[in-house]
Amino acid sequence: MDYKNIFFEVKNNIGLVTINRPEKLNALNDETLDDLKKCFSSIKEDYAVNVVIITGAGEKAFVAGADISEIHKLNVIAAKHFSEKGQSVFNLIEKLGKPVIAAINGYALGGGCELALACHIRVASETAKFGQPEVNLGIIPGYGGTQRLTRLVNSGRASELILTGDIIDANEAMRIGLVNKVYPSTELIAEAIKLAEKISSKAQIAVSMSLRSIVSCDELSETEGQNLESGMFALCCGTEDFKEGTSAFLEKRKPNFTNQ
Ligand code: COA
Repeated sequence: MDYKNIFFEVKNNIGLVTINRPEKLNALNDETLDDLKKCFSSIKEDYAVNVVIITGAGEKAFVAGADISEIHKLNVIAAKHFSEKGQSVFNLIEKLGKPVIAAINGYALGGGCELALACHIRVASETAKFGQPEVNLGIIPGYGGTQRLTRLVNSGRASELILTGDIIDANEAMRIGLVNKVYPSTELIAEAIKLAEKISSKAQIAVSMSLRSIVSCDELSETEGQNLESGMFALCCGTEDFKEGTSAFLEKRKPNFTNQ
């Protein structure tokens, strides 16, 4: 498939999406959002991809935000569509049904931080920087950030970041739970691939059902969530991988999953 501002490759069932506008610090313009929508829609249907990693091209930025030259031209109606479009692309990523790992290699500001938040696991380089600096532009986060950041790091920390526009480094991001792990820049992608390969070696139907259950946590009550969990648990018990996984344990051997 042809993309204007992203690269996409698949190796060993791991999809690597690289946002590629390094001269603009990978800022998300309309074309790039279209590319992401196309790419993640096709990954969703692609049985060759078990796990996805998303990162930014160049050494400086993951994504330095939505493209401010496009934001600058918005009127009220266009702004509502602009925000809803970004939200829908990031919702597609969050609800992909496959794990998405953000490998944050530099600035993750505004829409870049929101993109990382829509991913399921975040790992960062020591040089990564995080922030929601929208108040400096007279706007608020519009791609889900007020919701996802608040749920991930709690409302006090989210309020501080969003209301001050402060930028924090990778270690502070790890301290507040915004990222899971921090690595030297040169090791980031290799570590993200290692993590992706570990997940990819497990029973993929179970991985997908786990993820659906985890993601639904934000939208369902405890009772509804547990109901969904027991349904997913039961479905897993109808798979070949369930028979293989439990038999392999009892026979003291490694399982050979077929994702059936
Ligand atoms: N939208 C559009 N263009 C952006 C951008 C964004 N969010 N972030 C960076 N760029 C562009 C710059 O305009 C510049 O383009 P130019 O060379 O054509 O002038 C290029 O990327 C390099 O950025 P520059 O500002 O020169 O790099 P820097 O190292 O001095 O500063 C930042 C890096 C990230 C601190 C700075 O670019 C910045 O503050 N970006 C905006 C962050 C932001 O507010 N994001 C939220 C948007 S809602």
